[in-house]
Amino acid sequence: MQSTTIKKESKIASKSMLFYCREGYEADLAAELEQLSAKQQIYGYSQFVPNSAIVHYHFYQELSTQQQYVSFPLSDCIFARQRLCSIGKVELTDANDRITSIIEYLKDNTELSDSCLGDIYVEHADNEKGKEVAKFCKKFTVPLRQALRREGWLSKKAHSGLPYIHLVFSDSTECTLAFSYPKNRHSQPLGITRLKFPAEAPSRSTLKLEEAIQLFMSPAQQALCLQKGMTAVDLGACPGGWTYQLVTRGIHVEAVDNGAMAESLMATGLVSYQAADGFKYQPIDGHVDWLVCDMIEKPERVSELMTQWLCNRKTTSTIFNLKLPMKQRFQIVSTLLAKMSTSLNERQIEHRISAKHLYHDRDEITVLVLTGAHLI
Ligand SMILES: C[S@@+](CC[C@H](N)C(=O)[O-])C[C@H]1O[C@@H](n2cnc3c(N)ncnc32)[C@H](O)[C@@H]1O
Repeated sequence: MQSTTIKKESKIASKSMLFYCREGYEADLAAELEQLSAKQQIYGYSQFVPNSAIVHYHFYQELSTQQQYVSFPLSDCIFARQRLCSIGKVELTDANDRITSIIEYLKDNTELSDSCLGDIYVEHADNEKGKEVAKFCKKFTVPLRQALRREGWLSKKAHSGLPYIHLVFSDSTECTLAFSYPKNRHSQPLGITRLKFPAEAPSRSTLKLEEAIQLFMSPAQQALCLQKGMTAVDLGACPGGWTYQLVTRGIHVEAVDNGAMAESLMATGLVSYQAADGFKYQPIDGHVDWLVCDMIEKPERVSELMTQWLCNRKTTSTIFNLKLPMKQRFQIVSTLLAKMSTSLNERQIEHRISAKHLYHDRDEITVLVLTGAHLI
């Protein structure tokens, strides 16, 4: 399956990638992409307009299909929500027939074969300017989808094992054409994980932990690592949005905070409230399966605390937030995560670190560190 997909991708050559991020974080993503490309010795340069919520990365050299496929894995990019291979911009000067211009451009610039595309996303940047074109994108999707099906390029039903075509509109007269590939893309439009706020949850923060669990862990990993009867410590727990996510999975939680926990959570019998300082707290039985932490504190202090818990084997795994500094955000968080990894390696603790600027994060990133039995 994979080799078929790659073969089909080879007919869609691209020397440029397009990434979505949160508005205002373009410079951080650009710095991250440049560091990643230098590591892989795939050189190029980033280009962005401040507050556009989009960063382009242009390669200096032609890349083989395989290199394109593996370069910049989305899961390795903290500040990227979506990763697309762009093939170019199309001007849509005829407002009565934009579809013909798009089809002509695709015919001239790609060698699409029968049903090689699994779905179509007509998109815009996630910023104020993008919202102005959102209504148009929604309306344009259906006729364009029908036209691509008529041309035989789009599978009859959405097919997640195939490349998707993305049309990124800045306004209704111009769009960038791009492709995303299975296993290296976010599956939802704009790379945004849309979640429904659970009415019983005591705070909106609950969505951050839910998004982190869904994004960082496969269903199999969730089944293994978040089992009924497991134990957790939640540092900075009040009013209980994160604890809620753990309790709904049947996990016993030591909720550490000086504030007040939601009564509904206390009534589950799964929560033990601990009015204590999160930086001094010790787990009641010496070890828990999970440490989660949403305390608003300096990122250096939080990453140091998480490292201590993992190195001293007080927890198997952890999910925590790192508040972002005002400047050099990527450089600072990547240094902290590298330091954490070095400390774990020194203790010979096998681990996997995932970090992301989530849709539900504001000026913070969320980090997962899995160790021991949680690694599959
Ligand atoms: C952003 S709120 C946490 C929200 C919570 N995760 C939720 O989902 O409802 C931060 C919490 O950290 C707590 N906090 C800050 N510093 C702390 C410390 N040193 N020890 C314990 N709790 C602390 C605050 O009292 C506050 O309730």
